[in-house]
Amino acid sequence: MEREDLVGKIVSLCKRRGIIFPTSEIYGNFAGFFDYGNYGSLMKRNVEDSWIKHFVTGRDDVVLIDGATITHPLVWKASGHVDSFNDPLVECKKCHKRFRADHLVESKLNISVDGLAREQIQELITKHKIVCPECKGEFTVIKMFNLMFKTHVGSTEDDASATYLRPETAQLIFSDFKQIATTSRKKLPFGMAQIGRAFRNEISPRNFVFRSREFTQMEIEFFIHPEKMDKCDLIDKNFELNVLTEDMQEKKQDHKKMKVGEILDKNTIRTKWHTYWIVESLKWLTSIGIREENLRLRQHVKAELSHYSSETWDIEYNYPWGWKELVGIANRGDFDLKQHAKISKEELSYFDEEAKKRMVPHVIEPSFGLDRIILTLLLDAYDEKVEKGETKIVLKLNSKIAPLTVGVFPLMKKDGLDDKARDITESLKNEIICEYDDSGSIGKRYARMDEIGTPWCITVDYDSSRDKKVTIRDRDTTKQKRIKITDVDDVIKSLLAGKTKFDEA
Ligand code: GAP
Repeated sequence: MEREDLVGKIVSLCKRRGIIFPTSEIYGNFAGFFDYGNYGSLMKRNVEDSWIKHFVTGRDDVVLIDGATITHPLVWKASGHVDSFNDPLVECKKCHKRFRADHLVESKLNISVDGLAREQIQELITKHKIVCPECKGEFTVIKMFNLMFKTHVGSTEDDASATYLRPETAQLIFSDFKQIATTSRKKLPFGMAQIGRAFRNEISPRNFVFRSREFTQMEIEFFIHPEKMDKCDLIDKNFELNVLTEDMQEKKQDHKKMKVGEILDKNTIRTKWHTYWIVESLKWLTSIGIREENLRLRQHVKAELSHYSSETWDIEYNYPWGWKELVGIANRGDFDLKQHAKISKEELSYFDEEAKKRMVPHVIEPSFGLDRIILTLLLDAYDEKVEKGETKIVLKLNSKIAPLTVGVFPLMKKDGLDDKARDITESLKNEIICEYDDSGSIGKRYARMDEIGTPWCITVDYDSSRDKKVTIRDRDTTKQKRIKITDVDDVIKSLLAGKTKFDEA
């Protein structure tokens, strides 16, 4: 299967099964905004739960917050977003269509321009005589376009009431730092995590939910004593990953596999806490089912570093349109806390008990895009085969992430089989996400469950009332077994927890 086709197939599956689809479609195209249907929302919720378990509740040093999406405008002045959160834009002089200049160059010349400065992109447009893809018109020179959505608060619409929808969740963590640091009573190093919507007026939203205008971020700001950025003994030195450093990019080399021990020895990543959060992020991504061979770590070259970052590494995924950012992990230093302290005139520092003086912590920020993760999971899980002229799709999703854990069917919708199947559904429902289905043939019901990635299906048949057993079917192998009705709950829980393999169930 061509990887380009794969995205089209996923988009169509997502629409057909109500997983993800364009918003308010009854009114026509509204680019860059998507809705999640029942199965998409359940899957999203499972990813969020797994993230919270891994990064918040499963450890002692990270707390959760849930900040407002519209905030005081000075937050965005202090953070630098008002002045620096821009993308390069060109406009066709003939048809007046606008394009993102870096994307235009990438698609015309088939190269990556990550890290090129605005002037270098302009040079490429001029040198290669790149013209409007719609009408062949000439472009204006590059202008910088601010990505924040402006809005007004209250009944007047003037400069005094203007503010922005948040373009990242991170700033709420910085502006809440004093409040949370005090009430959580955490000692450095500690983190604050948040899941929430972010809004960016992308010039050219594209590639389904990869680049949209409203999306969900899952971010952690991990605060560390500036003199203890290397005091971290939690790092798994044997972990292996694909690495592409700034130097390798300059030499036009490909990424190579490295052990974390080697990364530490060579100081490839400047600080140990940064290394730790990169490894932790990769471990979580693979734990939810993203394939290790499709992930790599790429260092931002100087020209592409965000205004707040002294060092950034992206975990990139090998998308059908090339290696692109899935997660960004930046060293934000003390930039944000100092900026907010300066503009708000509040004390945003931390009392160092050992040195008996106040200091401003430094920050490592792992920033995950939830929608990109969903798309990536779908890309890695999609499998199809043609059987007797019919295409059969299976989403081989990790069982903890799949929208439903179990489908429960009666072989026939009569003779009490339906009542028994409903009883089983009711008994599982409290702790296991399951769905009862009695419409169409059993084959059709299995196919529907395969398409949304349901790992196991239970069928009640005519033997069930005699032997008090049901058939359990495994999505990936299509193998079937008979298990006692009284064991269904335990078997599913054990399979879900990875304690039992299907063959041993
Ligand atoms: N607080 C840092 C920050 O926001 P970013 O690299 O701009 O950094 C972090 O964004 C993550 O958010 C990205 O790695 C990506 O997964 C996701 N993201 C960014 N822009 C997006 C967009 N337009 N659509 C979907 N996801 C996006």
